Amino acid sequence: ALLGIDIGTSGTKTIAINPAGEVLAQASAAYPCHHPKPLWSEQDPEDWWRAVVETVRGAVKKAGLKPADVAGIGLSGQMHGSVFLDREGQVVRPAILWNDQRTAAECEEIESLAGGRKRLVKMVSNPALTGFTAPKILWLRNNEPKNFERTATVLLPKDDVRRRLTGELATEVSDASGTLLLDVAQRKWSAPLLGKLGLDADLLPRCYESEEVTGTLTRDAAQKLGLTTDCVVVGGAGDCAAGAIGNGVVMPGIVSTSLGTSGVVFVYSDTPETDPEGRLHTFCHAVRGKWHMMGVTLSAAGSLQWFADALAKDLSREKDVFARLVEEAEATPPGADGLFFLPYLTGERTPHADPLARGAFVGLTPAHTRGHMVRAVLEGVTYSLRDCLDIIREMGVSVRQIRATGGGAKSPAWRQMQADVLAARVSAMQADEGPAMGVALLAAVGCGEYKSIREACDAVVRTADGLKPDAKRRKHYDRAMPVYRQLYPSLKNSFA
Ligand code: XUL
Repeated sequence: ALLGIDIGTSGTKTIAINPAGEVLAQASAAYPCHHPKPLWSEQDPEDWWRAVVETVRGAVKKAGLKPADVAGIGLSGQMHGSVFLDREGQVVRPAILWNDQRTAAECEEIESLAGGRKRLVKMVSNPALTGFTAPKILWLRNNEPKNFERTATVLLPKDDVRRRLTGELATEVSDASGTLLLDVAQRKWSAPLLGKLGLDADLLPRCYESEEVTGTLTRDAAQKLGLTTDCVVVGGAGDCAAGAIGNGVVMPGIVSTSLGTSGVVFVYSDTPETDPEGRLHTFCHAVRGKWHMMGVTLSAAGSLQWFADALAKDLSREKDVFARLVEEAEATPPGADGLFFLPYLTGERTPHADPLARGAFVGLTPAHTRGHMVRAVLEGVTYSLRDCLDIIREMGVSVRQIRATGGGAKSPAWRQMQADVLAARVSAMQADEGPAMGVALLAAVGCGEYKSIREACDAVVRTADGLKPDAKRRKHYDRAMPVYRQLYPSLKNSFA
C-alpha cells in the first residue's frame, strides 16, 4: 500500500491506496491558522507534524494494514510557506504562509535587486508575488535580523514534514517553483537570483523530481507512525500539481478547473511558456521534465459561501444550502437579466494581481431576485475562470478537454455553466480525492509499481460525464464577457 499525505491550510488529510489506486482508508485532522497582525497568516510546524502522525496512524488502522504493508509515502501540501530552521533543526519562528500579505515592500525590493520585472521573469519564470517564499525570507532579514542570523535552512511546509520523517533536507521541483528561487526552465535553484538577493545557496535544500525517492523513514519516525524503516518517501508535489496529477492532467490538451474557496485553472505543458505580463504562474509540473501554467482566482466557491452566509440565512437549516441556491439561480435566464458580479471579495491574483480589488454587483434593478443574484455570482466566478483560460489560450497552449474538480464541480448546473462560458467540453471526475491521491500515485511510481506518472494516471484516473457547450448560451456568454471585462478597470479607483 501507498500513503498520500496533504498538509493543507486548515488541516491534514492522509489516504491509503493499493497499487491499483483504490482508496483503502482516509483520515483527517484540523489545526488553527494564526493572524497575530492584520495581513499576517502563520502556523506552527509542530501542529502539522502532530496531524501527520495522527492521520497516518488513523488511515493505516482503518485500512487494516500491517506496518510492512506500507511501501511508500508521497507528501503534498500548501505551497509557498516558509519554515525557518536553525543549525540544530529548531524552528526559529512560526511559519509564514502562502496567504500572508505582509511582503509588498520585499516584492518591490526583489524586482529592483533583480534589475526589473522582465529580468526576474527571465531568471525564475514568475514575477514577485506577496504569497511566494523569497519575499518572506527578505522580510525576515529586514524585520527580524536576529531570527535571520539564526536561520540555517528554509523549508516548504511539506518538506519540514519530510525532514521529520526521513532526517533529509529536500524538496522537489513543483513546490520549489513557488519559492521564486527556482530556475523553472532549468529545474534547479537559480544561482544568479540568489546572488542578486544576497542569499546563501546553502539556505535551500536539495531539489529532486517529484517521483524520486528522497529517503526512508528514520527509526524514530517509523516507530511514531507504526511503519517500518523500509518505507520510502518520494518527492511529492505542491498541492496544485498534486491535485492535477490526481485528476490526470499529465498530457497536452488537458486542463483542470478547481472550484474550492479559491479557483484554479491548471494546464499541462511540454515546455515552460511564460506570460509576458506575469498574470499566470509558470511552474515545474510533478511530471518528470514537464511544466504547468496556472491562473488563480481568490474567491471562487468562497463567493458563493459569502452569499449563503450573508443573504440566505433562511436556508441555513437546509441540508444543502448551495444546491438550493443553485436551483434558485437556474430559474433565471443566462446573463441574470443584465446583472453582473465581480468576484474579487478578497483581492485578486489572475488576471489582476491586485490585493485591493473588491467584489461588486453591477446592474441591479427592482426586477432582480435572489435567484438572479446567485446566478450573477456563479457567472462572475466562471467568467473569472475564463479570464485565466483565455490567457492560456493566448499563449498558444493546447486546450482540448477541461476536467472540473473541487467542491463547486459537484453541481451539474455549475459544470454546464463552465462548458457554456469556457466554450469547451467539461468533464467531471469519477473520484476527486484531491492532492493526497496525486502524491500517493507518485509514491506508487517511486516504488516501481508504474514506470511513469502518466502510466499510473492512465491506469487509475477516470472521468465521468462530458458536457458540451450549448450553442445559444455560449453565444450569450461570448457577448457578455467583454462587458464583464470592462468592470474591473471602471471600478478600480473606487476600491483603493
Ligand atoms: C498556489 C497557492 C495555494 C496554496 C494553498 O499558488 O497559493 O493553492 O498552495 O493550498
